[in-house]
Amino acid sequence: MSYDPIQSNHGHQFYGQDANPSYYQSTGFITPAKPIKRTNNWKKFGIPVALLVVAGVVVGVVLGLRHHNQTSSASGSSSSSSGSAAGSAGGRAVLATGTNTWFLPEYPSTTNTAAYTTPTLNAALSSWPTDPFAPSSPSVLSVRPDRPRLIAPAYKWAALPNLVAKDPYLSLWNATIFENATQWDALPAVVYFMDGDSGILDVARQVKQRVKAFSYVYRMTNNTHWVDRTWEELQNAAGNGSSTWTSTTPDDLWNSAHFLDTAELSAAYGIAYDWLYDLWSADQKAAIRSTLVKFGLGPGVQAYTNSSVFTGWWRGGGNGFGNWNCVCNNGLTMASLAILGDDTSGFASQLLGLTVDNAKANCAFAVSSDGTWSETADYWYFGTTSHAEMVSSLISATGSDYDLLKVNPNFYKTGLFHMYGQGTTQLFAWGDNGPNKYTATANSLLLYADKYNIPEYALYQRDQFDAGDPWSMFWYNPQTSGAFWDNMPLDYAFDNNTDQWMSMRSSWTDPNALFVAMKAGTLVGHQTHNDLDVGDFVLDAMGTRWVGELGDGDYRSPDYFSNDTQGSARWMYYRKMTEGQNTILIGAANQNVNAAPKMTSKSSNTTQGSSTVFTPSKDSTAYFVTDMTSAYLNANSVKRGIRLLNGRKQVLLQDEVSSNTTIMWRMHTNATVSASGTTATLSRDGKTMDLSILNAPDSATFTTANATRLNTDVTPPAPDQPNPDITVLIISLPAGTYNLQVLFNPQWNDGTNFVTPPSVLLDNWDLASHN
Ligand SMILES: *[C@@H]1O[C@H](CO)[C@@H](O)[C@H](O)[C@H]1NC(C)=O
Ligand SMILES: *[C@@H]1O[C@H](CO)[C@@H](O)[C@H](O)[C@H]1NC(C)=O
Ligand SMILES: *[C@@H]1O[C@H](CO)[C@@H](O)[C@H](O)[C@H]1NC(C)=O
Ligand SMILES: *[C@@H]1O[C@H](CO)[C@@H](O)[C@H](O)[C@H]1NC(C)=O
Ligand SMILES: *[C@@H]1O[C@H](CO)[C@@H](O)[C@H](O)[C@H]1NC(C)=O
Ligand SMILES: *[C@@H]1O[C@H](CO)[C@@H](O)[C@H](O)[C@H]1NC(C)=O
Ligand SMILES: *[C@@H]1O[C@H](CO)[C@@H](O)[C@H](O)[C@H]1NC(C)=O
Ligand SMILES: *[C@@H]1O[C@H](CO)[C@@H](O)[C@H](O)[C@H]1NC(C)=O
Ligand SMILES: *[C@@H]1O[C@H](CO)[C@@H](O)[C@H](O)[C@H]1NC(C)=O
Ligand SMILES: *[C@@H]1O[C@H](CO)[C@@H](O)[C@H](O)[C@H]1NC(C)=O
Ligand SMILES: *[C@@H]1O[C@H](CO)[C@@H](O)[C@H](O)[C@H]1NC(C)=O
Repeated sequence: MSYDPIQSNHGHQFYGQDANPSYYQSTGFITPAKPIKRTNNWKKFGIPVALLVVAGVVVGVVLGLRHHNQTSSASGSSSSSSGSAAGSAGGRAVLATGTNTWFLPEYPSTTNTAAYTTPTLNAALSSWPTDPFAPSSPSVLSVRPDRPRLIAPAYKWAALPNLVAKDPYLSLWNATIFENATQWDALPAVVYFMDGDSGILDVARQVKQRVKAFSYVYRMTNNTHWVDRTWEELQNAAGNGSSTWTSTTPDDLWNSAHFLDTAELSAAYGIAYDWLYDLWSADQKAAIRSTLVKFGLGPGVQAYTNSSVFTGWWRGGGNGFGNWNCVCNNGLTMASLAILGDDTSGFASQLLGLTVDNAKANCAFAVSSDGTWSETADYWYFGTTSHAEMVSSLISATGSDYDLLKVNPNFYKTGLFHMYGQGTTQLFAWGDNGPNKYTATANSLLLYADKYNIPEYALYQRDQFDAGDPWSMFWYNPQTSGAFWDNMPLDYAFDNNTDQWMSMRSSWTDPNALFVAMKAGTLVGHQTHNDLDVGDFVLDAMGTRWVGELGDGDYRSPDYFSNDTQGSARWMYYRKMTEGQNTILIGAANQNVNAAPKMTSKSSNTTQGSSTVFTPSKDSTAYFVTDMTSAYLNANSVKRGIRLLNGRKQVLLQDEVSSNTTIMWRMHTNATVSASGTTATLSRDGKTMDLSILNAPDSATFTTANATRLNTDVTPPAPDQPNPDITVLIISLPAGTYNLQVLFNPQWNDGTNFVTPPSVLLDNWDLASHN
């Protein structure tokens, strides 16, 4: 394995969290290439019949516009009934009735608003007991007297069976964990596999996933089979097992050169040590500690303190923001808390004196002022999972999060980034999408809901397919009740200059709803996971993604992560260059990496209400406009706007461009395209969408091409990944000044009367300008 790129980058490394993209796609975890109908977990439990929840006291108004200014959970208390809300007792049921082909929850179509009430905490429902461990002056080196310390203290295990019996979500997730553990039990111990630059990350995360599930099932059954099975994984990952792990660097078995691997294995060891503490013999404990110290905490101390090793590049200095900092600090923290007091190396206490402050200065600031994650929509999973694990472990083990939750006063908004980034099919997943999730889920939302007192986050996540995980069992507040969409604005504009994007939709619960999102934002400083994509957009309607992203290139392509300067080889790969995005291409050239676009946006602020049956009024609308002139090295002016029309049934995309060189309007689609003159018809999944160019400038017609590089492009260091079945819809224009308007009319087949909007300059757009 060669780490030269790292050395030549002053100790930073840019190859990110590698994926094996084909394996990633084949798992269909988040972005299934071909959605398959997923087993419907809820069916096993019966579709909820009586949705009898009665509205409680109305708390708060519009999510996103309210920040619960409670003094957070810096010390003492466990999760549980923070603050507000009363309410009548009511039935409990899983609100979703299943999962659709996009892995998204399905809600029954009903106007019975009594079933879906205001997001709240219902004091009449059973809650977690209060943590008896509540130190008045918490210290990171003063751990609770009992075990477990990490995330799930004994008082929570004692309360859990009763809560599982009463709460349908906890019951569902408990069953999922048992099923998963049973499946993994039948497999051999995780096989060591060094995957190029991504190291042993997948392997590490599989070990962690199994350790979590096996030790969970042990604690819920007292069946020591699960202790033995956990021991088998630990032995194996120490190089002592039958499926012996072998490495070209046996003294660095956990691959500290790619420190994520080290960190995830350290976390796995910490969980196993702590959750099964009373089951291990003294010899076993000593063996776990010696392996952890040798391959995990020792390299951690080196990463922190030895300036002649590069393995700690993620500690900061401007490049420490992002998921790497969260994952690495969290793994070292969980492991150190687990062995603190038993550790004879001194590394555990040394690291705890370093990791918390470092994560507060770096990991916590991976969230920008608007809630957006600094990398991409998929890296959010890794970063927030580790942030949440670290917060939760510190609180359970020592009684405080030391302000990791609030040192960035806008961290709480990151749930909005995730919720609004989810379209009616897939995420608006610009840039790179990262590796397999394994232990990363969106369940950080359950913890954030409780700690920030934003029940919407938990109400959203509890119906998602990935909610069945051991962490959910302890992060979820079982007093959460209501429907997340009740009073939730349909649109949200994210306005930090580093991201600048907007999400707009016609419903939160209709799987056929319209969803449009567009971004501007700066192109550099995203851990080299961005694309050159100012003006990029996606569009869902009728359960289909009509305009979409190409996603990752091959992470192992030469220089894929070299840097994000204008000349970087990264920008030579089709999926990363401007022509591979759904935006304007000028002079067949990439956008300027130093782009500093501007945005404006407006929304009618329409909210859905509690019913799942919802039709926006005719004047309900939203728009996003960006002046993206600075994104072009060769244009006089480029402005792009997108808006919803006709009660959110149609979309207008308008580009005002002035350039001395050629202009190309491009979008990528999986649909079958039939283009003729100023109209195009897209067909997919038995649905159609009509596009037309309005007030067409001379020579503006639709043409199509395959999603391959233009023959005028430079040759990249390695071939592009093929994009089979993708068509690029194009409008090519010679140099000149244009107002190019493209109208998108999804063929809803519901009697919609389509409108033809007036021509209004972007500078004059307003909420009512197209009524
Ligand atoms: C958890 O799930 C397992 C497997 O379905 C079941 O046997 C067990 O009773 C459940 N635990 C509780 C507390 O309900
Ligand atoms: C976990 O179990 C659920 C329910 O059986 C299943 O749908 C899911 O695929 C399993 N996850 C893994 C990673 O095996
Ligand atoms: C497991 O053992 C603990 C401690 O003895 C006990 O409290 C718990 O009820 C037992 N659980 C089961 C499922 O037998
Ligand atoms: C693995 O074997 C080594 C060498 O005998 C020993 O030092 C270590 O403690 C063992 N680790 C585990 C987890 O068994
Ligand atoms: C620092 O790292 C170098 C290179 O791995 C190693 O030779 C040296 O012993 C380390 N220094 C300390 C104090 O651990
Ligand atoms: C964007 O977010 C970062 C990180 O929170 C913050 O430092 C910066 O001030 C924000 N920029 C703006 C324009 O709000
Ligand atoms: C094509 O469809 C797949 C799976 O539905 C999706 O992941 C991808 O983003 C789509 N691509 C485009 C260009 O729409
Ligand atoms: C950026 O990466 C390219 C290779 O893609 C390399 O030629 C160039 O020297 C690098 N620039 C900087 C500033 O590191
Ligand atoms: C929508 O909400 C935003 C943010 O509070 C506000 O600035 C704007 O005026 C509202 N728009 C309408 C049409 O009420
Ligand atoms: C385009 O041409 C005009 C007239 O020659 C010139 O003033 C302008 O600078 C040119 N713009 C760009 C971006 O080269
Ligand atoms: C796209 O690729 C297919 C398969 O290679 C080829 O048959 C077709 O002619 C290409 N279409 C265009 C517009 O180049």
